[in-house]
Amino acid sequence: MSFRTIEWRDNRVVMIDQTRLPAEEVYNEYSDFKGVAEAIRGMVIRGAPAIGVAAAMGIALGARDIIADTFDSYFRQLENICEVMAKTRPTAVNLFWAIERMKRVALINRERGLAQISELLKEEAIRVEMEDLAICKAIGRHGASLVKDGAAILTHCNAGGLATAGYGTALGVIRAAHEEGKKIRVFADETRPWLQGARLTAWELLQEGIPVTLIADNMAGWLMKKGEIGICVVGADRIAANGDTANKIGTYSVAVLAKENGIPFYVAAPTSTLDLTKKSGDDIPIEERHSLEVTHLQGIPVAPEGISVRNPAFDVTPSRYISGIITEKGVVTGDYERQLRRLVDK
Ligand code: MRU
Repeated sequence: MSFRTIEWRDNRVVMIDQTRLPAEEVYNEYSDFKGVAEAIRGMVIRGAPAIGVAAAMGIALGARDIIADTFDSYFRQLENICEVMAKTRPTAVNLFWAIERMKRVALINRERGLAQISELLKEEAIRVEMEDLAICKAIGRHGASLVKDGAAILTHCNAGGLATAGYGTALGVIRAAHEEGKKIRVFADETRPWLQGARLTAWELLQEGIPVTLIADNMAGWLMKKGEIGICVVGADRIAANGDTANKIGTYSVAVLAKENGIPFYVAAPTSTLDLTKKSGDDIPIEERHSLEVTHLQGIPVAPEGISVRNPAFDVTPSRYISGIITEKGVVTGDYERQLRRLVDK
């Protein structure tokens, strides 16, 4: 891939600034955890798995600066850092999954020296990144078998290399199908209001030479009706025990339209996006973002001043609309309640 989403370099965390793509390819460096938390909140880095990697690296950065004499004092300060990370974005469960993973590393190594624990946390954060890359490739392999040669694939938001440690989930499936030599075409929803589809997915696929056509969100239904779309593949931010899936706002509309038009609709996500503590999508917290994202485009107002605005950043697609969930451990179809649990135990 021609870019690196995030990496640990010389005790700094380096990220491609996704707020500035596609106009500029700029890499930001962070040397403290507060900067990383702000980068997650401000969407310099976004996408569920990438948020997880960033949180892990942010915690590892913060751990290096802890001054403590005892493990208890060290761990209390580590928990405060985790608290700051946890408050950045509420929907993507990978954030909380990564935080728990980092805390566990500290706890199981409590008998070691504090400097050594900080070093182990750094290693763990890098491992989260490396594992995610391998996981996305496995998702791609499993998902590619569902994509027919010549298929036109609709995707929503950006579930690509930029949203993960690289390669992507939904775009991982697309990349793998392309690598297998299948002649695929992608339709990218622009994904209002933040334009992840137009700014990021279109950019990423162009870099890769994968044919991509950009459409405004409200065009997807019509193209489906006209028979121009053969399959939908999207990512996920949190999947409940019954398979209900939270993903970027607008995903639900795509899923309903796909069902109406008899088009398979797949969700691609790592098992770290599963949250089996949530019975259904009703229990998933949905982030509500600032009204300026809706009233302004790149700082230019597109609505009357003072207008009342809603800006939920995610929606939940009920599992009955989902043809299958593609994970690194395989594809799950139907009876999600039982199958997802089995997958986690695998
Ligand atoms: O608000 P974002 O850009 O973080 O939302 C991202 C999405 O909804 C993605 O589709 C999801 O995180 C899957 S990323 C592989």
